[in-house]
Amino acid sequence: MATTALPHAAAATPTPQRMRALVHERYGLPDVLRLATVALPTAGRREVLVEVGAASVHPGDSFVMTGRPRLVRLAFGLRRPRRRTPGMDLAGVVRAVGADVTSVRVGDRVFGWTTAGALAEFATVRDDHLAPIPAGVPVDVAAAVPTSGMTALQALRDVAQLQSGQTVLITGASGGVGSFAVQIAKALGGEVAGVCSGRNVEFVRQLGADHVIDYETTNVTRGSTRFDVILDSVEAQPLAAMRRILTPRGTLIPNSGRGGAWIGPLGRIVRARLLSAFTRQRLRPFTSLGRRGDLLVLAEMLASGEITPLVDRRYALADAADALRQVATGHTRGKVVVTP
Ligand SMILES: NC(=O)c1ccc[n+]([C@@H]2O[C@H](COP(=O)([O-])OP(=O)(O)OC[C@H]3O[C@@H](n4cnc5c(N)ncnc54)[C@H](OP(=O)(O)O)[C@@H]3O)[C@@H](O)[C@H]2O)c1
Repeated sequence: MATTALPHAAAATPTPQRMRALVHERYGLPDVLRLATVALPTAGRREVLVEVGAASVHPGDSFVMTGRPRLVRLAFGLRRPRRRTPGMDLAGVVRAVGADVTSVRVGDRVFGWTTAGALAEFATVRDDHLAPIPAGVPVDVAAAVPTSGMTALQALRDVAQLQSGQTVLITGASGGVGSFAVQIAKALGGEVAGVCSGRNVEFVRQLGADHVIDYETTNVTRGSTRFDVILDSVEAQPLAAMRRILTPRGTLIPNSGRGGAWIGPLGRIVRARLLSAFTRQRLRPFTSLGRRGDLLVLAEMLASGEITPLVDRRYALADAADALRQVATGHTRGKVVVTP
């Protein structure tokens, strides 16, 4: 196997000069994706070259790929995608490190997120976007964690400031964010109710939910129970209806990224923010942030068993379009992973 020169980077293991990657030259449905052979990326001074063992996909990947809502094009390219390879979350083995990298070494098993495209055999990642995979955790399980896990953690711990003994309602409890949120809310000491479809009731119970509500038979907003915290990753019910089941000083986090073709959820986010000024209830839409510190917290929770991601479906790299089609349905159970 040929080796490549990696300027600014130290590589201990021979790496190929070319790799397979998913690429798209225009925005669109997953059909715009094709598997191509491209040049191996080069790690910059503060970057790491990771051989991808697994990448996971989430609804945000499908927004970036379709360019919808159109607002995302401001960040990712107005007419065509600036980033040719989709995918953010990944786990794998470090194959080369840039000259200024001290936090990881060649051969380390790592997981994290990249803006350079994870749906490929190799990806470059900033060193502060990675954390070590705890011993014994399979690479595809670690790949399932970054964005969904950080979103659930930041929503419950930072935005809601969930306290032990508080009641929490999680909609979309069986999905990527929800399945982490149920487990993290339990770890923080919450009494958790999860909303999902009938086929997922047993799964959400196994995640640790104290109460499970099947949305196909029960409308949770018509019940008499009030919650201190609501993480609403679906927004199937109007804001006013959700507020009726929120305690007078409770926190409601509207978290669905879905919405109109142009600005997506932005209109709802602005409405919730404005309304917040006129009520003691806290209405707090938020955007999750990639933070290495939170990745380390999630690594500890993985190691202790406080969170156990469910990888429901695994796809080969050549079939990654099907993985993106699946997350776009809004009915994913746990996480979907792509393995090169
Ligand atoms: N704020 C942020 O920065 C941020 C970050 C990440 C994600 N998000 C957003 O969070 C949302 C959820 O993401 P995700 O990765 O968890 O999506 P996902 O994996 O597709 O999960 C969605 C879940 O919602 C459930 N569901 C569908 N209709 C429902 C209903 N009427 N009531 C209750 N549950 C319902 C589905 O379960 P069934 O199959 O049982 O219906 C599915 O398990 C997305 O809109 C995403 O854009 C926001």
